[in-house]
Amino acid sequence: MLEHIEVDAFVKVLGDNTGGMSRPVQVIGSNGKEYVLKNQNVYDPSRRTWVEWDSMFIQEVLVHRIAKHFGITVPDCAIANVDSIFLTHAPALRFTHNYVPGFHFASNLVDGVENNLRDGYETLLALRKPYIKRPWSSFFNNISNKSDVSKIVILDLLTANFDRFGNFGNLIIATNNGERLMYCIDHGHCFWGPAWSNLQKRQCMLSVSQGGYIDFWTKALTQSSGGAFMSGLGEIFRALDQYIDVANNEDHCFYDIVLEAEKITPALIDSWFSGIPDEWYKDKLSQIDHYKHFIMNQKQLLRELLNIMADKGAFQTHLGGELKWNVKPTGTQ
Ligand SMILES: Nc1ncnc2c1ncn2[C@@H]1O[C@H](COP(=O)(O)OP(=O)(O)OP(=O)(O)O)[C@@H](O)[C@H]1O
Ligand SMILES: [Mg+2]
Repeated sequence: MLEHIEVDAFVKVLGDNTGGMSRPVQVIGSNGKEYVLKNQNVYDPSRRTWVEWDSMFIQEVLVHRIAKHFGITVPDCAIANVDSIFLTHAPALRFTHNYVPGFHFASNLVDGVENNLRDGYETLLALRKPYIKRPWSSFFNNISNKSDVSKIVILDLLTANFDRFGNFGNLIIATNNGERLMYCIDHGHCFWGPAWSNLQKRQCMLSVSQGGYIDFWTKALTQSSGGAFMSGLGEIFRALDQYIDVANNEDHCFYDIVLEAEKITPALIDSWFSGIPDEWYKDKLSQIDHYKHFIMNQKQLLRELLNIMADKGAFQTHLGGELKWNVKPTGTQ
């Protein structure tokens, strides 16, 4: 079930320092809770024009549900109705941020997000100071959901999300009830981009079952930022690698989650689309077919992709050889 809320009040704009483009806003819902509301109308500075990322809301819900299925910590989400009366009282949203009336994707605001390190990192970047490796690793120290890390790697491989490990705004950390938790957010750029109208996105989603696809991934994972080993996965990935244990090729941290992903059926995927508003689709049947085709094929490639990553030196604990999914001897888990 997806909760439906009305947006009652605007609090402030977020995301202006995170490298993202969609500038979500913090709002209060009709149930009194605070939410982060996203907008599919996005200003693209390189083209100096507004563009519609028309698949963003669908992908936010779909990947939220896959993440929940994998047991990954994500903020709850809702479908938030923005009505024209509300926009009349928040003219900046309408005129500066191009919000329009209708259903929007909203996630429950995570209280007390730690931004200090990120802000410090931004300052260093602005000053063109060299990047120091240590701070990011310490930032992710002492999180209680360390076992989420290997699940998030699989989630991102399964959904073609290249927007997490090089982007320091898409994993957030907050302490609540004494627990320091990492939350996985922002899935709008999965599946080769946020816009259905982009023909290349659709072609990429179909190419999963075609020749040359694995080579394409190998390049994407290893060369997307400068050609250094696994640089495509970025600084955040290197900091989180401390929680990836693949020292034993027969009994490693990806064992269970890959088997879980491989169990996904078309019917399960259908259930992830339930409750998504019709107005979010451009071409409902074809869109759902594309996601199904992609996920059902991509799930069969996870072992191979992980082994390419291991082989290319992505995981510090890896000692060589292939990761395996043989039945584990009893007594281990
Ligand atoms: N549920 C939430 N709770 C607390 N803070 C949030 C939440 N969702 C988003 N934020 C904050 O807002 C920032 C931007 O959100 P998000 O990453 O979803 O959008 P974006 O990066 O601007 O979007 P895009 O990548 O689509 O351009 C996050 O980095 C985080 O600091
Ligand atoms: Mg983001």
